[in-house]
Parts: sequence; C-alpha cells; structure tokens
Amino acid sequence: MASTTNLLEIKDLSIKFTTESGWLTAVDHLNLDIKKGEKLGLVGESGSGKSVTAMTIMGLLGKRRDIAIQGQIMLEGEDLLRMKQDKIEKIRGRKMSMIFQDPVESLNPVFRIGNLVAEAFMVQEKTDKKIAWERAIEQLNKVRIRDPKATARQFPHELSGGMCQRVMIALALVANPPLLIADEPTTDLDVTIQAQILALLKKLHQDLGTSVILITHDLGVVCQFCDRIAVMLNGRIVELATADSLFTNPSHPYTRGLLNSIPVLGKKGRLEPMPSIHNQEARGENICRFVHRCAISTDRCCSAAPGLREVLPNHYVACFSH
Ligand SMILES: Nc1ncnc2c1ncn2[C@@H]1O[C@H](COP(=O)(O)OP(=O)(O)OP(=O)(O)O)[C@@H](O)[C@H]1O
Ligand SMILES: [Mg+2]
Repeated sequence: MASTTNLLEIKDLSIKFTTESGWLTAVDHLNLDIKKGEKLGLVGESGSGKSVTAMTIMGLLGKRRDIAIQGQIMLEGEDLLRMKQDKIEKIRGRKMSMIFQDPVESLNPVFRIGNLVAEAFMVQEKTDKKIAWERAIEQLNKVRIRDPKATARQFPHELSGGMCQRVMIALALVANPPLLIADEPTTDLDVTIQAQILALLKKLHQDLGTSVILITHDLGVVCQFCDRIAVMLNGRIVELATADSLFTNPSHPYTRGLLNSIPVLGKKGRLEPMPSIHNQEARGENICRFVHRCAISTDRCCSAAPGLREVLPNHYVACFSH
C-alpha cells in the first residue's frame, strides 16, 4: 500500500541530446513524484522519453557534453542530478535499482548465476565468499527459481529469458532498495512468462514495500499492476491518474488513441507512434505536443503548451479541451 510520503520527486526535468540536426529535446519540463510503496506506470509510444527518464534517475547517462540535463531529481530528499558520480554509484543498488528489457544480454555471460548474485552480496554486505554464496541461493529462492542450488551453478545462456529476468530481479533487490525501475521487463517474454514475472514483482512489492516504476507499452499490464499511470508524449506527461480513473475516463485525445490501439488479448504488440495528421512532430516547441495529430485541436493549441490540470480528483490532463 502506498503511503502519502514521496520517495522520488522529479522537478522540471529537461533532457536534450545533440544530434546532427541540432538539439533534440527527449524530456521536456517533466514533473512527477512517486510515493513510498507506490507502483507507478510510465506509458507512451516509442520515443516518448520513458527510458531516457529512467536512465537519468539511475545516473546512467553520465555527465557528457552532448547531453544537457536540467531540473531536480530528489530521492529521499537528495538531488541525484547534483550528486557526484561516485556517490551515485554507491547508492545505485542500495537505494535504487533497474531491470531492463533484455535480461539475457544484461547478465555477464562468463559468470555462473550463483557467482553473479554472490558477488553482489559481497559488495553490498561485505560478506565472505561462502556466506555470500548461501545468501545468493536464498535470493534465488526468493524470486521463485526452482532448484536454486542447481541454477546457481549454471551460466546465463543455459537459462530461459524468464529465468534470466528472475535473476535480474534477484540482483536488483540484493540490497532491498526502496525504488525499483523496471523498463519493459516482460516485453521479450511470452504471455505466460510475462504474467509470472509480473506476479513475482507484485509479491516482492507487497513483501518488501518497494516502490516500482513500471515502464511498458502494454496498457493492459499497467492497468493490472499499477496504482497510478503517467502517460508520456514527446517528452511530456499529458495525463496522470489512478489506474482506475485513467481507464474509466481517459481524457487526453492521445490517451484515448493509445487505449484504442491496445493489441488484441494474448497478441503482443508495441505502441507504435500514432500517425500525424500534418506529418510534423511537435517537440520542444511551445505548442501542444499532440496538435498535429489531434482531431479536436483549435488555434489555441498552436499558440501555447497546455499544462497539467486536475479535471477529476487526482486525475490530471494537459489539454485545452478540458
Ligand atoms: N543517446 C542518445 N542520443 C540521441 N538521442 C537519443 C539518445 N537516447 C535517446 N535518444 C532520443 O530520445 C528520445 C526518447 O528516447 P527513449 O529511449 O527514452 O524513448 P522510449 O519512450 O523509451 O521509447 P521505446 O518505447 O521505444 O523504448 C528518442 O527520440 C530517442 O531517439
Ligand atoms: Mg525505452
């Protein structure tokens, strides 16, 4: 159950990349908070800025001259954007962890599963090899890996994608961090395994009280898993609501479009960008991000960018039509 206290507060976050054609605004004045113990869904079509936001929270973009990051990301009161890289590396794993779409690729292929997890315990808990190995077996058991002792002796390539994702979750939760970011953790898995991984995340969330940011293309998944959902479009949040309210009253034309494009049950699909009416992209400009694709836009939508407004209790929409 989510408390009312915020664990993470993202304030006015903008992220720009230099490209051959100039600056590309990937994230544009984004404001978002995650409460302690909350499960928050971040959805949006491809390229909307979900992964870049997650990587920035985790400090994985580093400090580079071709990337400009502005704003604040407060984790338990400390601004991650103003933290030295060595401190970020220390709190990565302890206070926040991330799992990715491709678990097989993410695991170091030359180490046995047990060594990978034991190594994490040795770093976090400063334990010796023998105790770390025992802790690793317990951890593999926690993520419901059948026969953890035998699995610990295997290499990543000997495991299925679903098993590798369980190992990734085990690694991410070694230090029981208060925040877990899962970036499309089930996208490459088949539907049954997807359901098992989500059930595992739900169980661990209940047992450990971890706050979870779930990034996914699958609106069915966020609906079942999350307490609140943020819908992203071209680097901005255009709708933010509880899962119930969003599905009962989707209010932004973009959200309605996404809901209409939910793939048929059991069939996997990504949220492909919706076609533009005028074949233009509204990114980084002071206009509505959806104006070129919106059937109900007016002149006003071309002269200013609508901010989020509360249209129902705890349901915010960035659209002038509300
Ligand atoms: N290193 C980079 N250099 C330049 N542009 C980048 C870089 N990384 C991401 N981008 C751009 O930033 C935008 C947002 O990318 P991001 O990966 O966050 O999208 P996403 O919402 O996660 O999409 P998907 O659903 O396909 O994973 C895209 O236009 C992308 O091309
Ligand atoms: Mg992504």
